Amino acid sequence: MTPSRIRPLTLAIFGTLLLSLGALLCFFWPVVFLRLLSKELSLSPTSTSFDVWNNSTTIPLHLEIYFFNWTNPEEIRTPGKKPSFVQLGPYTFLERREKVNVVFHPENDTVSFDLKRTWYFDVERSNGTLKDNVTQLNVVALSAVHRIRNWAFYWHTMFELMLIKIGHIHLTKTVDELLFTGYEDTLINMGKISKIVDLPPFDKFGWFYMRNESTTFDGHFNMATGQDSIMNIGILRNWNYRNTTSFYDAPCNAVEGSAGEFWPPDRNFDEITLFSADICRPLTYEYNGMMTYNGIEGKQYVIGDKTLSNSTKRRYTKRQANSQSQDPDVVNVGQCFCNGECTPSGLINVTACRYGAPAFVSLPHFHKADPILREQIAGMNPDDEKHGFHITLEPKTGIPIDVAARLQVNILLQPSDSLSLFSGVPRTYFPMFWFNEHAGITEELAPPLRLLIQLSKFGHYTSIAILVLGSLIVLAAGVLHCLHKRGRVDVVMTMSNKPMSAGFTVPTRQKTELIYLDTTVATDDHDAQTRLNRQLYPKLVGDNLQDL
Ligand SMILES: *[C@@H]1O[C@H](CO)[C@@H](O)[C@H](O)[C@H]1NC(C)=O
Ligand SMILES: *[C@@H]1O[C@H](CO)[C@@H](O)[C@H](O)[C@H]1NC(C)=O
Ligand SMILES: *[C@@H]1O[C@H](CO)[C@@H](O)[C@H](O)[C@H]1NC(C)=O
Ligand SMILES: *[C@@H]1O[C@H](CO)[C@@H](O)[C@H](O)[C@H]1NC(C)=O
Ligand SMILES: *[C@@H]1O[C@H](CO)[C@@H](O)[C@H](O)[C@H]1NC(C)=O
Ligand SMILES: *[C@@H]1O[C@H](CO)[C@@H](O)[C@H](O)[C@H]1NC(C)=O
Repeated sequence: MTPSRIRPLTLAIFGTLLLSLGALLCFFWPVVFLRLLSKELSLSPTSTSFDVWNNSTTIPLHLEIYFFNWTNPEEIRTPGKKPSFVQLGPYTFLERREKVNVVFHPENDTVSFDLKRTWYFDVERSNGTLKDNVTQLNVVALSAVHRIRNWAFYWHTMFELMLIKIGHIHLTKTVDELLFTGYEDTLINMGKISKIVDLPPFDKFGWFYMRNESTTFDGHFNMATGQDSIMNIGILRNWNYRNTTSFYDAPCNAVEGSAGEFWPPDRNFDEITLFSADICRPLTYEYNGMMTYNGIEGKQYVIGDKTLSNSTKRRYTKRQANSQSQDPDVVNVGQCFCNGECTPSGLINVTACRYGAPAFVSLPHFHKADPILREQIAGMNPDDEKHGFHITLEPKTGIPIDVAARLQVNILLQPSDSLSLFSGVPRTYFPMFWFNEHAGITEELAPPLRLLIQLSKFGHYTSIAILVLGSLIVLAAGVLHCLHKRGRVDVVMTMSNKPMSAGFTVPTRQKTELIYLDTTVATDDHDAQTRLNRQLYPKLVGDNLQDL
């Protein structure tokens, strides 16, 4: 009797152990996985993420620039004629990002660094050469005029004399001059004037002039490493040594959001925030759906109304908000970013951030913007595929797998009564160029990431498999136990039912016997009780075990 009694008991204990193990694993695996992941992700001089972060050559970054060639500048004052644009490009540059002056601050779990970006022209990926001629608005003249708009009249008279030398509001330059090498401008050369109107501290003008290999242009960053809590990883704490900027009014001047490279793992956000040094403010991206890139599924976030509308409301804490609206905590951030005069939706006013040039950032081709912006000019063809700005994050790890940062730079042309060069021109937002900064997880990096995601799933499925196995073994033990009882009904009954009250002994015993009868005899009995009990057939359990 003894050996045959031990087996079901041992099985039951073993099964229960497996069940507990499975349950434990099921509950704790995500925690364990997150812990392991956090250790590798959070930034320290020795973590895995540090090498990838510090050395950008692992993920190639391409900057594609498209210019708008203004084809009818002489018709700017002709009524009924719209400024017409032809898109040129892309002019593609391979971008290398290096972190320099990296200093870790373990005392407040942050890291400080400067960004050094180097661009190399990539002929193969370009459609055109750096010697292509592009006709555009004269941005320098426009910026200078914009600065003195509200100044006393005699300034305008003085300025008028200088502008006569320029002659046109447009100029034709090569792509190279417009971007990196810059061009000299009569206005810039008049050092006296540039002092008066506080022009940018450069001797030439170019959209990327002096930016190649500069370590100061993007500012100084202080970013959370995530060592304290992985939820903080990648959040920009200070920019240029401060947690606010001087370009917008509070609370819109806050330095907040991710610095763009790290996101906390295993979080489901409706929206994410990214601080952009290029436009001196945080941008909000809204969840747009699941996407697959190089075989990896990710959550896609896009720039939408929350960033582009001029009336987006946002709840702040009381201390930050301090606003006059009905609900004291709610701030109309759309207006807060307007800096006074508001723009039609779809434009971001970066005047303050760009040395007072009347510059406005939008999505390429005024995508998702007020249609009036496209109707004032000719040549805009917005297309979500080509002109949306998206970031796709792998949700388990928070790793960006596909980023297409696309923005267009526009300049506001405004008529002026006192300056003949600008008299009679229509008030128009002029598209200058747009860029697509694209990076995606490479074919080489995709497999390790896929492995990581599988590892997270593996733990989950393993725990479920152990749970199932445990339950089956416990079940088998129960059935075996019953089978043993069948042989020694009397012994089993006396053992198991002795402590029970006499009143229960009899029905239990009858029921026990019923089960035995069913398993062997009543195969074609369709009584409900029988069918229920039939699940306890040893044969059935055996089949299931074989399936495993
Ligand atoms: C841009 O337009 C001008 C005329 O406005 C033209 O001379 C020039 O060739 C165009 N550039 C390119 C690259 O097509
Ligand atoms: C290359 O640029 C020209 C305009 O300069 C444009 O017509 C053509 O479609 C572009 N080709 C590609 C592949 O983008
Ligand atoms: C940027 O600087 C690097 C190194 O001096 C140089 O090789 C590269 O051609 C420059 N890029 C541009 C677009 O001028
Ligand atoms: C963390 O400490 C460093 C060094 O004291 C300092 O430069 C940095 O601004 C601090 N960051 C924050 C968010 O306090
Ligand atoms: C805000 O945007 C809407 C839609 O583009 C526009 O009609 C409205 O005039 C804008 N508000 C201001 C104050 O400019
Ligand atoms: C843009 O912002 C500047 C201040 O930074 C402000 O003076 C100007 O009125 C704004 N322009 C528009 C069109 O909103």
